[in-house]
Amino acid sequence: MKKILVTGGCGYIGSHTVIDLIDNGFEVVSVDNNSNSSLRAIEQIREVTGVQVKNYTVDLTDLEKTKRIFSNENIDGIIHFAALKFVGESVEKPLLYFQNNLNSLMNIMHCMSEFNVPNLIFSSSCSVYGNADELPVTESTIFKDAESPYARTKQMGEHMITDFAKAEKGIQAILLRYFNPAGAHESGLIGESPINKASNLIPVITETAIGNRDKVTVFGDTYETRDGSCVRDYIHVMDLANAHTKALQRLLDKKQEVPVDVFNLGIGNGVTVLEAIKSFEKVSGEKLNYTIGDRRAGDVVAIYSDMEKATNVLKWKPNRTIDEIMQTAWKWEQARSEVPAL
Ligand code: NAD
Ligand code: WQD
Repeated sequence: MKKILVTGGCGYIGSHTVIDLIDNGFEVVSVDNNSNSSLRAIEQIREVTGVQVKNYTVDLTDLEKTKRIFSNENIDGIIHFAALKFVGESVEKPLLYFQNNLNSLMNIMHCMSEFNVPNLIFSSSCSVYGNADELPVTESTIFKDAESPYARTKQMGEHMITDFAKAEKGIQAILLRYFNPAGAHESGLIGESPINKASNLIPVITETAIGNRDKVTVFGDTYETRDGSCVRDYIHVMDLANAHTKALQRLLDKKQEVPVDVFNLGIGNGVTVLEAIKSFEKVSGEKLNYTIGDRRAGDVVAIYSDMEKATNVLKWKPNRTIDEIMQTAWKWEQARSEVPAL
């Protein structure tokens, strides 16, 4: 059984990916400092899979502690999710983002080199494209200037990994650029549970519907789109999780012929904010309290992926639509509102 180190395994995408890895026969070890998560995720993973995952509560910016994980465990591959991810916060605190996201990545690469672990999957983001000139964006769409220090850490992370894999023989990496991950595991036993306040559209919708927020503000309805609101490519977190398993399997099977490859992960289709709200109202049967507000600074009008490369090379296909995203996100919101917070 191959042993995979998942960094950020208590986080939103990490915990769902741990479930998909276990479902596909991998042994998983997690490391998370719980800066935006809690150990409850490990319990939830056990409830879903019946497997107790070992978690190291370690900050990956601490090289010595990170090395200890690598010397304790015989790791075959790494999926590196751990990072700070709030765009607005990164504008306020760029050094925090550089320090956390880049040092933890550097320490991971250092350990790959020292402990001979050749396989790395890296969580990147569509934010690397900046305000792209062409739609849909393909993997070869040129990076524009990063719109935030967070996005810059993803651009820099991609460059650092590319230089590292070029220099060190045997190192292989896959960079996965996610569009807008959303939704939850179908069981309703696990979903997004950030410590920090959610600001993404779909948790804002479900938190409003459950009564934890007064209303959803739609950030602008006068853009040049089919209904005036912004267009995004929402990808179900379990479809996204499965792409990691497939990418990892490709590296373990030695099917990749280049040191570093890159894939967009989205559904290849745009959904507007107002369409997302309509989808929520349809699947939940709830009337959502929303108003139209001002545009949000820094928002791109529209972005969605060309994900043909992932379909062709990884043999991955997202199966779930915006309706399934809303259904599972709503099921999770209702379930978690019944559990007292830690
Ligand atoms: P998340 O905050 O839920 O998960 C990240 C996890 O990493 C958290 O549990 C956090 O405690 C942990 N972590 C952060 N810094 C750490 C450190 N120094 N040492 C150990 N653990 C640390 O976020 P997520 O939504 O699951 O995102 C996972 C990855 O995907 C991130 O790299 C993020 O940038 C990227 N990504 C997310 C989105 C999104 O919209 N959710 C989109 C594109 C890319
Ligand atoms: C989606 C749409 C908003 C909240 C962010 C990061 C990106 C990536 C994914 C990490 C936009 C609108 C939102 C609300 C609204 N993350 N909206 N009212 O901004 O597309 O992308 O997450 O890599 O880097 O920037 O996601 O969910 O915030 O917004 O109208 O209360 O919903 O304007 O059009 P975004 P989002």
